[in-house]
Amino acid sequence: MTPSLFTHTAIDTNLETAAEWLRQGTCIGIPTETVYGLAANALNAAAVARIFEVKNRPAFDPLIVHVTDVEAAEALVIALPPLARRLMAYFWPGPLTILLPRKAIIPDLVTSGLPEVALRSPAHPMAQALLRALPFPLAAPSANPFGYVSPTTAQHVFDQLQNKIPYILDGGPCSVGVESTIIAIRNNSQATVYRLGGIPVEALEAVVGPVDVQLNESSNPAAPGMLASHYAPRKPVYHTLFDNVKDFTGGRKIGLIAFGPQKPPAEVTIYLNLSPSGDLAEAAQQLFIALRQLDRADIDLIVAEPLPDMGLGRAINDRLKRAAAK
Ligand code: TXA
Ligand code: MG
Repeated sequence: MTPSLFTHTAIDTNLETAAEWLRQGTCIGIPTETVYGLAANALNAAAVARIFEVKNRPAFDPLIVHVTDVEAAEALVIALPPLARRLMAYFWPGPLTILLPRKAIIPDLVTSGLPEVALRSPAHPMAQALLRALPFPLAAPSANPFGYVSPTTAQHVFDQLQNKIPYILDGGPCSVGVESTIIAIRNNSQATVYRLGGIPVEALEAVVGPVDVQLNESSNPAAPGMLASHYAPRKPVYHTLFDNVKDFTGGRKIGLIAFGPQKPPAEVTIYLNLSPSGDLAEAAQQLFIALRQLDRADIDLIVAEPLPDMGLGRAINDRLKRAAAK
């Protein structure tokens, strides 16, 4: 199916215009605190189908449903385990997505036929205001073509989806910069993380005790979630210390993504430091901006140095590892 085209894609801050497009069953770009989403009425299968067309996303990869609050979530699920309630109380609105048994009002397409729906309440004030203006929840994947780096500004969305969507609600640069953490409750008591993201594992553990982390490394996961090759720029990415590759680059031009206080190596053409002061939150905010910038730049390959594997650093390393998997 070829998505129908719009001759013009507006970037603006008008909530009422955004709400009107969504009421009409159109999908549009919206800001969240993590990354920009490609949103449509989650209860309208035709509107949801358009998301898959615009993103060129395989139908086996389900979508997150965005809600205003716990009460709105309750209307979509057949059960809400106490542990899920506790997580929502602590982390909603915010970058935490919880898998829960869905009600039949959620179209099969949203969950790819799976019995659970992924729910999240975004903290971005414009996303909240938009949800409150609408009588339905919003299905929204990240607003990038399937497999590419997620957008963290309205311009990123425009660069890749112009003329496929009529409107991008501009909420400024995303404050978190990596996608939400995805968690499920197993056996009514075990919190299991399926995707590292904006809420660090340590923060979850401070609230619910030890959590299980089960990241999908395969490129054909039985339970959709995290494909191994994902978040990938077009240029080759090496997720390693620059010192490990500098002798093997054969004169090719290198873009280096670094972190923390250090001096740019002389052999590097473009040097981007995600946070010279070593702040992981700042690094997360800058991550996809840096990958996009280097993908466009006149360099041959990207070297991204691993960050400290803790807090948000773990989610950042996970994205870089997937960007490097080809
Ligand atoms: O921060 C975020 O989560 C952003 C913003 C827009 O909210 N959204 C986002 O969506 O990252 P997306 O579609 O790019 O990634 C959602 C991931 C996918 O890997 C999908 O497979 C998984 O969540 N997922 C969604 N629903 C699921 C379900 N019912 N069961 C298992 N995995 C699910
Ligand atoms: Mg995505």
